[in-house]
Amino acid sequence: MSSIHRMPARAGVGLRLPHIEEAVATQLSVGWLEIHPENFLANPHATELLLELARRYPISVHTVGLSVGSVGGIDRAHLARVRALIDRVDPVLVSGHLAWSTHGAEYLNDLLPLPFDDETLQIVADHLHEVQDVLGRPYLLENPSSYVGFAGSTMTEVQFLNELVDLAGCRLLCDVSNVYLSAHNMGYDVHAYIDGLPAEAITELHLGGFTPEDDAATPGGTVLIDTHATEVAGPAWELYAYALGRFGLKPTLIEWDNDIPAFTTLLGQAAMADAVAAKTLEPEARRVAAR
Ligand SMILES: [Fe+2]
Repeated sequence: MSSIHRMPARAGVGLRLPHIEEAVATQLSVGWLEIHPENFLANPHATELLLELARRYPISVHTVGLSVGSVGGIDRAHLARVRALIDRVDPVLVSGHLAWSTHGAEYLNDLLPLPFDDETLQIVADHLHEVQDVLGRPYLLENPSSYVGFAGSTMTEVQFLNELVDLAGCRLLCDVSNVYLSAHNMGYDVHAYIDGLPAEAITELHLGGFTPEDDAATPGGTVLIDTHATEVAGPAWELYAYALGRFGLKPTLIEWDNDIPAFTTLLGQAAMADAVAAKTLEPEARRVAAR
């Protein structure tokens, strides 16, 4: 399945419902838009506006409700609804989280972590095969934001993601802010994490804001919460530059889901991502241009 668009290797923004009318009415200076299908499944008016935008911009569909880690299996009715929307929107990329958010018929309003062991690996790989079969395309799996580990884990998150790429043939979405946040909270090395990911599978990057909170249980006394409610922090920009050096230029999303600011603020963050990429990857070309 191929889209009428190609995904440009530059920054895009998360399109949330408060901005959709403005996005339709404006000529946006942005490479692409990412949407959550769950915002549109029961909203025909928003879907019509989205279809208008999909004719003008490459779209990435980022599902938050597929729950590939749920032991009870994928919600097939939800997956079918996502497929139906995808058939209309014609996105370039489709992605979701390495997490679980359903238990039986109950939806939990969070993305919950998984133990990294052989049993979970097989469950997630089977679910990824099912999702990719139904959607008829590769699925991009995103690294989670983590606060605690499981004592029963027998492999690292990076090993687990590598195994999933091999077993399920999925691709990876590297959320650079999640790497920074999780490394801070869990006490691992950010560069070793980036270095350990399979570069050939990295298809999209994310950058989002996080919020520090006092927490006596975290070394250093501060836990970073994945709020998607602020601008991208300085250390995340630095890690983004490092990730670009390892993965090359990739479509990069600015994610902002809470305390949503003016759309121009999101577009400014996307322009900053493009500027970081230009500075990181083309220093020689910039020096020549400045002479
Ligand atoms: Fe993300």
